Amino acid sequence: MPSAKRVLVITGVPGTGKTTLADRIAKRVGDAEAVHITELVKAKRLFSGVSKQGELIVETDRLRRELERIIARSVQSVVIIEGHLLCDISVRGAMVLVLREHLPVLAERLKRRGYSLEKVSKNVIDEALDYCGMHSGNHYASVFESFCSDRRLMENVRRLLHGQKVCGSIDLMPELYTMISKGGLSL
Ligand SMILES: Nc1ncnc2c1ncn2[C@@H]1O[C@H](COP(=O)(O)OP(=O)(O)OP(=O)(O)O)[C@@H](O)[C@H]1O
Ligand SMILES: [Mg+2]
Repeated sequence: MPSAKRVLVITGVPGTGKTTLADRIAKRVGDAEAVHITELVKAKRLFSGVSKQGELIVETDRLRRELERIIARSVQSVVIIEGHLLCDISVRGAMVLVLREHLPVLAERLKRRGYSLEKVSKNVIDEALDYCGMHSGNHYASVFESFCSDRRLMENVRRLLHGQKVCGSIDLMPELYTMISKGGLSL
C-alpha cells in the first residue's frame, strides 16, 4: 500500500450493500478503518431535526468537517467512508465507488426491511436513474460504479487503493422498463 493516506468513499442508494462492503474491505486491507455515516451522524448529533418521513435532516457542512477531522486524525493508511449521503458532499481527495444493485434484487431487499411500497419504489427509481452516480459526478473527480455482486469488485477496489484508474458505469434503465412493464413497481 502506498504510504500516503487514501480515502475511499462508498455511496449508493439504501440497501445496495455499502456497510457490508466497507467492513469487508477494512478487514481485507488490515491497515484501514471504516466510518459509517449513519452511526456518525447519530453519535455526533450532526442533524437539525427529523423529516416528515422520519429521516434525520443531516447538517452536511458539519458532517463534511467531521469527516475531514476523522481523516486527518486517522492512524490508518486507508479510511473507508460509507453512506448514501456522501454523493451530495465533497470529501477532499477521496476516490468514489458507487455501489449498484439490480432493481428486482434491491426491491426485494427493501421490502424485506419492511419499507412501504412507496419507499421501495422511490429507491428503486433513484437507483434506476443512478441518483448517486449522477450526484457523485458533481462532487468528485472520478466515479467508479460496480454491482456489489461483481466478482472483480475486491480486485478493482485494491487497484483503486493503489492509485490505478478504475472505470465503470452501469445502466439500469432497461431493468426499470422491464419492471414497469411487468407491473412490478407501484408508481
Ligand atoms: N455482496 C452481497 N451479496 C448479497 N447480499 C448482500 C451483499 N452485500 C450486502 N448484502 C445484503 O444486502 C443487505 C443490505 O446490505 P447493507 O446493510 O450493507 O446495505 P447498505 O447499503 O449499507 O444499506 P443502508 O444504506 O440502508 O445502510 C443486507 O441484508 C446484506 O446482507
Ligand atoms: Mg448501511
